[in-house]
Amino acid sequence: MTQEIEIKVEGGVQVIRFLRADKKNAFTGPMYNAMSEALDGAERNDAIGVTMFIGSGGVFSAGNDINDFMRRAQAGATSPEAAKGIPAPSLDFIRRLPKATKPMVAAVDGLAIGVGTTMLLHCDLVYATPAASLRTPFLDLGLVPEAGSSLLGPERMGHARAFELLILGEPFSAERALQAGIVNAVVPADQLEATALKAAKRLAAKPREALLTARRLMRQDPGRIAAMIDAESKAYQTLMRSPEAKEAFTAFLEKRPPDFAKARRQAKG
Ligand code: COA
Repeated sequence: MTQEIEIKVEGGVQVIRFLRADKKNAFTGPMYNAMSEALDGAERNDAIGVTMFIGSGGVFSAGNDINDFMRRAQAGATSPEAAKGIPAPSLDFIRRLPKATKPMVAAVDGLAIGVGTTMLLHCDLVYATPAASLRTPFLDLGLVPEAGSSLLGPERMGHARAFELLILGEPFSAERALQAGIVNAVVPADQLEATALKAAKRLAAKPREALLTARRLMRQDPGRIAAMIDAESKAYQTLMRSPEAKEAFTAFLEKRPPDFAKARRQAKG
């Protein structure tokens, strides 16, 4: 169990708090595993009606930990986990999102990058502060959008806005995210947690069977999201080993701009 994810249950709400602010709450394997276990626990535990995600230190999450990414890209198909068909902790967590039967709420302050943004598309209620900034730099990392966002993004905000956020990589401010229908309300930072928790508790107090049934009806078939996650993941795994993705990750870790043309030239030999 990691110290970087805190899980507390309060008033029927399981609060999952990201506690890795020194690394902008970037998600590591153990953090994903802790979140997956928490989502599984919510399914089994009647005392939990709702799960709420919240960051810390003025950041929601900088997405996947890039060091973890690099290690996985280098190990590739030769890692013992891959050989046994065990999915990466990130994929394992992402696959649980459409399967979750209980409502999910997010409270977003500051940066929400990569999966920090795409996981919001699985949430039923999202509250943000004026400082919230949603970004998905997948393309700039030589990758494709994940977590079913290729389906949920256009559905939620229309093709044009989804393309701008997910493919162009344009940051969305809290206001823009509100207009795009990703965020329910923008609230001052000192009221964020209380606002999200109050809404989550209201949901958790509703007749449970009616709540879960209504949510299931509204979300329709989760299988189509699961299928998109698998298609995205296939493309992602291939691209993660591409010269351009390797260059993007190395450049990030070396704190310099990437040179994609050079990476392509070197790959050609
Ligand atoms: N993976 C691993 N480490 C990360 C990280 C990530 N996704 N995001 C931030 N960090 C680390 C930085 O390496 C730095 O570590 P250090 O203090 O040991 O050098 C620390 O968090 C603080 O980040 P820093 O870049 O110094 O802060 P900043 O305010 O200048 O920039 C970000 C913050 C989030 C904009 C920038 O760190 C960034 O672009 N991160 C990568 C985001 C990303 O591409 N995520 C993957 C999406 S698929």
